[in-house]
Amino acid sequence: MSDLLRFITCGSVDDGKSTLIGRLLYDTKQVPSDQLEALEADSRKHGTQGAALDLALLVDGLAAEREQGITIDVSYRYFSTPQRSFIVGDAPGHEQYTRNMVTGASTADAAVVLIDARKGVLTQTRRHSFIAKLMGVRQIALAVTKMDLVDFDEAAFEAICSDYRTFAAEIGIDQWHPIPLSGVTGENVARRGEAMPWYPGPTLLEWLETVPVDAVADAEKPFRMPVQWVNRPNRDFRGFAGQVCSGRIAAGAEVRLLPSGRTTRIARIVTAEGDRDEAVAGQSLTLTFTEELDCSRGDVIAAAGVPPQAADQFEATVVWMADEELVPGRSYWLKLGTQTVAATVQQPKYEINVNTLEHLAAPTLQLNSIAVAEIATDREMVFEPYDAEGSSPNRVLGSFILIDRMSNATVACGMLHFALRRSLNVHRQHLDVSRESHASLKGQKPAVLWFTGLSGAGKSTIANLVEKKLCARGRHTFLLDGDNVRHGLNRDLGFTETDRIENIRRVGEVARLMTDAGLIVLTAFISPFRAEREMVRKMMPEGEFIEIFIDTPLTDAEKRDVKGLYAKARAGEIANFTGIDSPYEAPETPEIRIDTMAMSAEDAADLIVGKIIDRR
Ligand code: ADX
Repeated sequence: MSDLLRFITCGSVDDGKSTLIGRLLYDTKQVPSDQLEALEADSRKHGTQGAALDLALLVDGLAAEREQGITIDVSYRYFSTPQRSFIVGDAPGHEQYTRNMVTGASTADAAVVLIDARKGVLTQTRRHSFIAKLMGVRQIALAVTKMDLVDFDEAAFEAICSDYRTFAAEIGIDQWHPIPLSGVTGENVARRGEAMPWYPGPTLLEWLETVPVDAVADAEKPFRMPVQWVNRPNRDFRGFAGQVCSGRIAAGAEVRLLPSGRTTRIARIVTAEGDRDEAVAGQSLTLTFTEELDCSRGDVIAAAGVPPQAADQFEATVVWMADEELVPGRSYWLKLGTQTVAATVQQPKYEINVNTLEHLAAPTLQLNSIAVAEIATDREMVFEPYDAEGSSPNRVLGSFILIDRMSNATVACGMLHFALRRSLNVHRQHLDVSRESHASLKGQKPAVLWFTGLSGAGKSTIANLVEKKLCARGRHTFLLDGDNVRHGLNRDLGFTETDRIENIRRVGEVARLMTDAGLIVLTAFISPFRAEREMVRKMMPEGEFIEIFIDTPLTDAEKRDVKGLYAKARAGEIANFTGIDSPYEAPETPEIRIDTMAMSAEDAADLIVGKIIDRR
């Protein structure tokens, strides 16, 4: 069977990477015949050096297209030999392109790390090797290029191997193979030459043709299939479609559904080509069960005896890929397999300097930073540690991406290490008196009336009036006010971006608990960031979060300056003051907007109460 190897090439500027790939394609006759003829004619005219230049151009021409795309640029090429097919990913070598190499390595079985024979092991070599290891690439070929420029000297090659051996041991790379070669002469690329009789090992192509692929290792692991969608073409058929990410499955086998933990048996394995008795990692199919069980997108179907874990707090390596920095505590979407959950990243434990491998303190993460941090999700996620000691990495259930909830841009990728023990040992307790009973006992529909606006806009005043009016109508309410909560529950928080985010997170959680108790909760916080207001909205059942924008222009809030804080802020006595040197992001589509310039506090309160009472 001819199989598929995905590999990535990593080099630095000028180490002959393009020439090497060009040579590989040329010598395995992958270059279209007209280009091949042109190249051959050229090489006759200019000698081998000219041919090498053109080989490089052939590959660099593709790179030019890619550079226009910018965001994440890895170019992929496909070629094949009678033994194997190959997809080669090429990530540019510049320092700022960590994310490109991460992207390329995230699907690679093997990495070809280039070293210029004249220059030896460089910082870049260490960086490339570290990222390959981090991403779970288990096979590394150390391609020592430009051997022709050191007269094919064995001692030069040995010195490089010895340097690399020390470094590889340091970071735990155990499977690497050094190959002395020359892209220009073709020596040891796709064919053996006469120049290095002292080298007994495989050519680069032979190595690529025989190195183990991860797909084989994946098939030997326990069965897992994340459910992509529920396949229900008619009343009589209900199947669960997805791609098997590891192991094998047979009709009749017992499986466990996660996170519910229920077990059942496989009735049918349905594919586009009809039913099968068995399936293996990599195949896309629809499974049906012998019983009617609840199962939906994001659930994982697993071998009954060896299921993966589910947890909601993790330690992970995070690679930051966005220009905007990480905001610790902010809620991002986290996608893992077919699961999407809301997640927050804590302040990193440490950032890793990819050049020196030092661990550094980091309050946040910038473009291309790699760090270890704790992550908390709002629901349990079914996962496996990314690094499957000694086997291929668990890419589907062990790696994730983070998405900015406002812009929908992918801002990071990451690899899960393990679940925090506290998240495995704390379970949700079933409560007999439900949120519905609490609410019906009070004869009302719970809600959160979320007042937002500048300091001094009138939030507290209006919220106070609204609460009085609701009370008068027999409603059970509670008002959480910024200044008060900051004296108790949140007295450890200040006004930095991170502290304000935590302030709102806690208030959101408290408000949710109070609505669980059946109350109508009013909150009066500046809550300057859209992202956190949206986060609280998503925490609440549909329709229970009512955003009320108390819209007072800065100039007027400042003119009133009831607490004298604006004057202090202008005098530089208070830092991070909202509206002065800290932003306020006005709601775009609040449920209610109060223009305080056009309406008295009394009228505003009446308007709000009217809307709440009418709500069905
Ligand atoms: S929030 O931004 O985290 O939502 P919160 O509503 O809890 O703020 O607190 C705002 C109140 O704290 C203001 O009404 C004001 O009295 C006081 N305060 C003190 N320092 C600041 C500051 N730097 N920025 C805004 N408000 C401040």
